[in-house]
Amino acid sequence: MCGIIGHVGTTCSTPILLDGLRRLEYRGYDSAGIVVISESGAPLLRRCEGKLRGLENSLFENPMTGTIGIGHTRWATHGKPTERNAHPHRGENGRVYVVHNGIVENFAELRERLLAEGCQLTSDTDTELIAHLIEKRLDDGVKLAEAVRQVCRVIRGSFGIAVLSATHPDRLIVARLRSPLVVGLGENENFVASDVPALLPYTRRVIYLQDEQLAVVTRTAVAIQTFDGKAVAPEVSEIKWDRHAAEKEGFRHYMLKEIYEQPRVLRELLAIHTDRGERLPRLDMVGESVDGLAHCNRILAFGCGTAWHSCLMARTFIEELARIPTEVDYASELRGRRPFAGPGVLGLAISQSGETADTLAAAMIMRKQGSRLLGICNVEGSSLVREADSVVHTHSGPEIGVASTKAFTGQLMVSFLLAVELGLRRGVLDKDRAASLVRACERLPEQIENLLLDSEKIQQIAWELHQKTDWLYLGRRWLYPIALEGALKLKEISYAHAEGYPAGEMKHGPIALLEPGLPVVALVGTGPSADKMRANIQEAKARDALIIGLSSEPHLLDGLAHHVLELPASRVETEPILHAVALQLLAYYVADARGCDVDQPRNLAKSVTVE
Ligand code: M6R
Repeated sequence: MCGIIGHVGTTCSTPILLDGLRRLEYRGYDSAGIVVISESGAPLLRRCEGKLRGLENSLFENPMTGTIGIGHTRWATHGKPTERNAHPHRGENGRVYVVHNGIVENFAELRERLLAEGCQLTSDTDTELIAHLIEKRLDDGVKLAEAVRQVCRVIRGSFGIAVLSATHPDRLIVARLRSPLVVGLGENENFVASDVPALLPYTRRVIYLQDEQLAVVTRTAVAIQTFDGKAVAPEVSEIKWDRHAAEKEGFRHYMLKEIYEQPRVLRELLAIHTDRGERLPRLDMVGESVDGLAHCNRILAFGCGTAWHSCLMARTFIEELARIPTEVDYASELRGRRPFAGPGVLGLAISQSGETADTLAAAMIMRKQGSRLLGICNVEGSSLVREADSVVHTHSGPEIGVASTKAFTGQLMVSFLLAVELGLRRGVLDKDRAASLVRACERLPEQIENLLLDSEKIQQIAWELHQKTDWLYLGRRWLYPIALEGALKLKEISYAHAEGYPAGEMKHGPIALLEPGLPVVALVGTGPSADKMRANIQEAKARDALIIGLSSEPHLLDGLAHHVLELPASRVETEPILHAVALQLLAYYVADARGCDVDQPRNLAKSVTVE
């Protein structure tokens, strides 16, 4: 939710902290702040309400320098997004500064205790309590790392914290419990961040801090210990992402860049997860093999938001191509019920970030009940990757736009190949059918390129309709999850109200919403459901709705749609990906025409690490 950055070295930390915050702003953008220790040893704090630009302007006008510091970009949990609630927070005497990502669940109890002890609190946040608790221990003569360790055992909930103190101006202390933290290793300097993109310009060598671990980071060393005080040998990983991967590279927005990256991402995925000679899927799965998974009796797939739509799509792929009964649940619901899990049931967790709190909690429940857990995830070293028995990476590169695009189509491609491979292993598909499905996937990157080249029509429609405030998205069977995803994309970035429905459900209620001129985005596939879709479009048209039809066979929409978007011809199994890309573009251009902040929509954060 929030972004954390820290630096200790010999050069000025301020630009590094600001650059890191810029790269992490997708995690939260309510307010931002940094603290550095000046040459004279004094802590210099600056915090601003609103987006990072405010902080940048303030620092431009009144610079602060120092070779050690921490910074934060916030998505508010406790307390309004004001300057007084912005991080870093300090202890009463200004000896300790803390930035925090997560939530302190025993906030009320700790706050009451500190107030009873006479503590003066200056914010409404849970984070400030952490600073006071650490400072109190320092006042009792406890050393900084030990004080942080003790406090980590007192606070409940989830946290990634970075701590700076003028009493120990050569070190940052970081600690994590269910909130990501990564240490970056430089030459004569080291870094900490809540996410890898912040570190890409400086280093590829990182240490992923594990739960209940604390690290003391100086400019030349990193020492890790558990919350029990046991020393742990650091495990250094090499990041494969290119340093430009997290930059806009000439595009107006990250989202647009990420939409345009999809052909490349899918080509790379095919190269990694298929046997190019035989043209068969061969998933590069970490952990258990696909063979081992093929014997499950049932699959329970879960995720949140766009990843939940991927789960719906995975269900269609797996039931259709591998004939394994597959159930789908929202991770936030699954964690609250007692699912029928166990050794014969495979849990399938889908997540771009691998850090979504609900998805991780649901994953734990499945594992506790004896199910094996397969993760489909984009971020290496993330909590889901560590939690799962087996993992398939979606290799989509860093996704910075809050609205998920390339990670979604990457998830679809991986779950499709998984379904085909499971189908082969279970004898549901023969090699010829499997190879023809893989060949259909191989055509997708070029088909998407053609779609992108031909996006002018989508722009025109978006411009014409951008003032509409209510939209309906309809699809059937293979295209139903895509209708839901199209509606989610539009609402999250344009703030227009949009609902996705299975077209067959219209008559059971939603048709009452139809009014003259209401845009209905109808996804018409090539399969047998096309005729039924046409009938549903007729019903909407009869009520004067404004129909935007998407199909690779535009003649199916003759006389039915006001606007027709012709998509490249593909098979029924692979065309959902093409419809998804077209709807991403539609949402993007509508939001842009409405003047919305496409990459940082209001109230949202890229990865939701609190419940
Ligand atoms: O990182 P995850 O895939 O677990 O995130 C799940 C959702 O929070 C995410 O897909 C969200 O719905 C996006 N904003 C959708 O564009």
